[in-house]
Amino acid sequence: MTDTTFTPRVFSGIQPSGGLTLGNYLGAMKRFVDMQDEGSYQTVYCMVDLHAITAKFQDPATLRHNTRELAAGFIAAGIDPAKSILINQSQVPEHAQLAWIFNCVARMGWMGRMTQWKDKAGKNAEAASLGLFAYPALMAADILIYHATHVPVGEDQKQHLELTRDIAAKFNHDYGVDFFPLTEPVIEGAATRVMSLRDGSKKMSKSDPSDASRINLTDDADAIAKKIRKAKTDPDALPSEIEGLKDRPEARNLVNIYAALNDQTVEQVLTDVGGQQFGSFKPLLADLAVAKMAPISIRMAELMADTAEIDRILARGATQAREITAPILKKTYEIIGMVG
Ligand code: AMP
Ligand code: TRP
Repeated sequence: MTDTTFTPRVFSGIQPSGGLTLGNYLGAMKRFVDMQDEGSYQTVYCMVDLHAITAKFQDPATLRHNTRELAAGFIAAGIDPAKSILINQSQVPEHAQLAWIFNCVARMGWMGRMTQWKDKAGKNAEAASLGLFAYPALMAADILIYHATHVPVGEDQKQHLELTRDIAAKFNHDYGVDFFPLTEPVIEGAATRVMSLRDGSKKMSKSDPSDASRINLTDDADAIAKKIRKAKTDPDALPSEIEGLKDRPEARNLVNIYAALNDQTVEQVLTDVGGQQFGSFKPLLADLAVAKMAPISIRMAELMADTAEIDRILARGATQAREITAPILKKTYEIIGMVG
């Protein structure tokens, strides 16, 4: 543990790889908005375009489009550029500069143990990019170049955050300083894992071949309502207690989605809807999902009609970000012994 007190600061990022879903919204964006509005943190949110090129070749026009669309998604979901710093990773060069330092702190063995590396590189690690192997060191740099204290993420990023703490601790130890914080992961809420609407055992994902399995952030009201009406369920009524959702993955998923959209706990939802059949619960959920999600798709489309404004917001974000990152990089270089 470090003894230094750090400013409470939140950092998180999403890859601009296209196709945002209700899972991204409830598992990530909505929680980013909640932490922004809570008022106890400075919040920094990032499109991680440097990460987006690690796994496979990205067509340049598509990457540009996806980055702007993700920015529009963040703003439409409630990220307010007047309250949060909203940036595109490549526009704040200190991320990549600190990542180089961390490439020299992290050990090959640590990186080789990352499950995301093993999954994505698969059997043919020889053909994977060096960037894919170094991905977690860049992620640690994203976080630590802000001295961020809290990082909201989904369950799948937990191991990378442990590595971030290991990198901070090794740097602090090697140089005998108390410079980088040991960042806390924030993994909580009813919807850290939103499941497919067609199969309650699979994660809702943009890469699922069935469009009916997910709600896209770009879906209109009709599409949202139709997908909820057609969602897979079982024939039983909803239980009044959480234990009654055991072994009912589809029912559990729809109740989790309802709770997360309505800022309620699962217990509260079941108190209200316990005993109802899906025939009456689904219309309630469809109305709620349309009320919460349709305005986001409308706002996203409006924002995407003026990409110059999005670019201006990101340029301002980069300037604000560099006021934080430049001094931290300068101090890091001094600690290491770089002449400057
Ligand atoms: P990805 O689109 O997989 O790069 O994820 C971006 C962010 O959204 C990460 O914080 C993920 O944990 C979160 N996320 C993606 N899909 C889901 C899901 N089905 N349920 C909950 N969170 C998700
Ligand atoms: N690896 C994260 C994901 O795939 C994205 C990410 C990059 C990130 N840098 C980050 C998340 C820093 C949190 C903090 O979801």
